[in-house]
Amino acid sequence: MTFVITTPLYYVNDKPHLGSVYTTIICDSIARYKRLAGEDVIFITGVDEHGLKIQRTANEKGIEPKSHCDEISEVFNNNWKDWNISFDKFIRTSSKNHEFVVNEFYERVKASDDIYMGVQKGWYCVGCEEFKDNPENSSTYKCPIHQKNLEWKNEENLFFRLSKYQKEIEKIINEPSFIEPIERKNEIINFVSRGLKDFSISRTNVTWGIPVPGYDNHTFYVWFDALLGYVSAISSDATEHSLEKSINGGWPADVHLIGKDILRFHAVYWPAMLISAKMKVPKKVFGHGFLTREGQKMGKSLGNVLDPDLLLTKYGNDPVRWYLIKDISLGNDGDFQDKRFVDIINNDLANTIGNLLNRTSSKNYIYNFDNYKLDLAANEVLSLAINTNLYLNDNQPWLLIKDKDNVPLVKQIIYNVLESTRIIGLLLIPLLPELSTKINEQLGSIYTEEIPWKQQLSWGLLVSNSSLPKPTPIINKLEYEQHL
Ligand code: MSP
Repeated sequence: MTFVITTPLYYVNDKPHLGSVYTTIICDSIARYKRLAGEDVIFITGVDEHGLKIQRTANEKGIEPKSHCDEISEVFNNNWKDWNISFDKFIRTSSKNHEFVVNEFYERVKASDDIYMGVQKGWYCVGCEEFKDNPENSSTYKCPIHQKNLEWKNEENLFFRLSKYQKEIEKIINEPSFIEPIERKNEIINFVSRGLKDFSISRTNVTWGIPVPGYDNHTFYVWFDALLGYVSAISSDATEHSLEKSINGGWPADVHLIGKDILRFHAVYWPAMLISAKMKVPKKVFGHGFLTREGQKMGKSLGNVLDPDLLLTKYGNDPVRWYLIKDISLGNDGDFQDKRFVDIINNDLANTIGNLLNRTSSKNYIYNFDNYKLDLAANEVLSLAINTNLYLNDNQPWLLIKDKDNVPLVKQIIYNVLESTRIIGLLLIPLLPELSTKINEQLGSIYTEEIPWKQQLSWGLLVSNSSLPKPTPIINKLEYEQHL
């Protein structure tokens, strides 16, 4: 079975920030889990390169948009490798194949009689690349996300007949698992109940975009173009009939994991575009929360942006992953606190899992992972580790061994502890790939690709009386410093 999971395609106006690292780590963990569960995973990430925002960023730097995009796309690609992200596809929306897909898709939408020429007037946020629903005092109103004034636009654009799909969209968004978590679903249901309006899919003042065939000075609206990146990524190696190849190559996506700010595009506009093109809609759109830092919104003006590169070099991949996965319940907003980060890593990883080195948890873990409750899955591993520690302390094999008659009992206790450790190592593979590798190595390579991962979670598979490699410390404690 193919399982297609996507991160948002990130704007290349700047290098990755902690928010993009967060989404990508969550997707990576789910992708690793699904692979272990035996699914054929296509994990898609990539970059959203067109549009006014990127055009302006390049202009400000005094370079061509293309060279700006080449540079930043490379930064993203390398960055994900540094974070050990197991992505299968990295899509650039400025690639040739992507352009083919956009054109083929546009032809299908046109054939459904869903495109017409109209006049687009409204207040636009360049940061969001989105028209806002007439906020009061629009000329002084600042977009709450970007803290920038909106711009007035009045131009002839091509429109997509979104209103035609009101009924279908209502049905889709009400399906039980299409939008998660539930609070997000209600926001979208409210929005759709106010009545869907057609939206413009071309721009006349943006040169950095895919040209609309037949309309000289029009380029596709960046969101119309970018959403299709999820489709074109699947056939990224194709040279022709790309859309068809994507459809046969694994479409639809099983889950689009995105931030809550871009839910409308994914849960409303995107399914309607797909229905119009006679394609399947994604199975799920999961809108995660926003990260703040020490309780405050992160922003350049506040000077409190936490550079993920710094976190990676200072603490390494696994501690950051553990904090983001385990401390934030997926779907809720989360706060990055330096002190809490250090405490959690020291408690969870160094004291509990780390010191251990040396059963029903697996069931709960699988249930939670399948339901996108990654923090609860992480907690299951932790409680297995805590229980194993308690078991070891309660039984005190180091005292028991003083009496020769206890040897079989001591053997059994040590076996149980090692067996728990083996299972902890297996459960950690999708969450903390590096730490789990170390645990696995210390137990003499306990994970094998030949046997399905879930089967390896059964109790009792560790071979008795086998010898262990020389122990080495698996995790170092962190030092808390006031400023990262
Ligand atoms: N290019 C569009 C997505 C197109 S998908 C076809 C875009 N890009 S983005 O780079 O601005 O944002 C990418 C993701 O980062 C969004 O899901 C957004 O919600 C997320 N985040 C931005 N700031 C964030 C935090 N502070 N915390 C968590 N996620 C945040 O939107």
